[in-house]
Amino acid sequence: MGTAARPRYVELADHLAERIAAGTYRPGDRIPSVRQLKEQHRLSLTTVVDACRVLEDRGLVASRPRSGYYVLASSSTTRDGPKAATPRMRSRRVDAPLSLRLNLGIGSPQHPTLGAAVQGPEVMAIPALNRLVSQAMRLHPTESHSYDAPPGSPQLRRAVARRAVTAGCAMTPDEVVITSGAKEAVYLSIRAVTKPGDTVAIESPSYYALLEVLASLQLRVVEVPSNPASGIDLTALAAVLDRHRIAAVALVSNFSNPLGSCMSDDNKRRLVDLVDAHRVPLIEDDVYGDLAFNGDRPKAIKAFDRRGSVLYCASCSKTVSPGLRVGWASPGRYQSALEHLKLVVNQATATAPQLALAEFLDSGRIDRHLRRIRPAYRDQMERVVDAVDRLFPTGTLHTDPRGGHVLWVQVPGLDSLALYEDAAPLGIHVAPGPLFSAGRERFTDYLRINTGFPYTVETEHQILTIGQLIERQLR
Ligand SMILES: Cc1ncc(COP(=O)(O)O)c(C=O)c1O
Repeated sequence: MGTAARPRYVELADHLAERIAAGTYRPGDRIPSVRQLKEQHRLSLTTVVDACRVLEDRGLVASRPRSGYYVLASSSTTRDGPKAATPRMRSRRVDAPLSLRLNLGIGSPQHPTLGAAVQGPEVMAIPALNRLVSQAMRLHPTESHSYDAPPGSPQLRRAVARRAVTAGCAMTPDEVVITSGAKEAVYLSIRAVTKPGDTVAIESPSYYALLEVLASLQLRVVEVPSNPASGIDLTALAAVLDRHRIAAVALVSNFSNPLGSCMSDDNKRRLVDLVDAHRVPLIEDDVYGDLAFNGDRPKAIKAFDRRGSVLYCASCSKTVSPGLRVGWASPGRYQSALEHLKLVVNQATATAPQLALAEFLDSGRIDRHLRRIRPAYRDQMERVVDAVDRLFPTGTLHTDPRGGHVLWVQVPGLDSLALYEDAAPLGIHVAPGPLFSAGRERFTDYLRINTGFPYTVETEHQILTIGQLIERQLR
């Protein structure tokens, strides 16, 4: 198993980063122009431009229109390390195939993976749900084998509407559409408000499955910088909404994937005002909202929606069971469009899992379950963070999420796709940074680590091995 050669644009980026570290280019200096770099290093224009983007992603330089790239003030290596990315905010196509090619180790829940954002059976509610699914089939033998036409089971829609209060939302059962997971809710929502060729504004980095959805619908994107602490940059988003014809905004509001960011209530309110002012719908994915480590469930953006502009999407996948495939949307003024699309796309979500989940939510078992799993998720996150601090090279930066189960890590100079290729044959999976950008050329020295499993010697071994592979690659 050898370490793959670094792509040439990464080599150039590393070379320039070294020059910056050595003080050859100091904060405020302009680095050589793209044309000069192209000539000096005998590289193509694209390679040089990609190298400059890598430097931007590392927070080392910023571009000034028609002037060039300037060195930023040097940055500290704190826990909140990875810098807010500065993508070029232009409309572009999404390259989908990378995520389809990579195996993130989704496998079986018995085998911990650092790759896919999945969780161990310990934090699911398996015995209770197994009993409730059997009970649903026993008590509703005919309905369990019939189509449950959109908008879905009235019992579950009632339970979802009641629970939405914990996220600050007032919704009625008629304002809910049951879907097969949050991913279908997001897919249907985006489809309801766009047509092929439209542009959607997304946070950057962005959940890669959202990028797949956008690519499959032939949509373009504008990537808006997002911050590990506070989420999408609203000033940048406002500029994008002013400059581009945007059909929708799509993001993960609470404990996002991969950044772990959680928007403040104030920013949520401002975001709703902003999209309303531009008459643009907002797709909110809130699958992680119930997983606040301290138990304070953050509000949904939907809580601030007065005009039905927010298409809210969530599921029980992160809290109870991803395999039940039960999620929901509360799509505001797009309710009938969503009901129609759900019918067109897959007719109905399986009935027994809906009834079982309705009972789980309504009986209060969900609250006991959340009280048990939130500290477990916190413990898992803390132990992975501790291991990364101990076992990854000095200079490694990472986020400090307050909920959810993904950690975003930056190792300056790393080629995370090559790392993926080195680790996969050993049965160890990580999600490389380029997965989380539309052109797959950004976040080259980032990786996302899943913290959804209890920390065991196997986890320690996997993190140790990744640390060693990184050391070897950087040497
Ligand atoms: C942000 C986000 N949305 C949606 C999903 C998928 O949710 P579901 O299994 O309910 O379709 C995931 C799973 O990793 C996720 O991280």
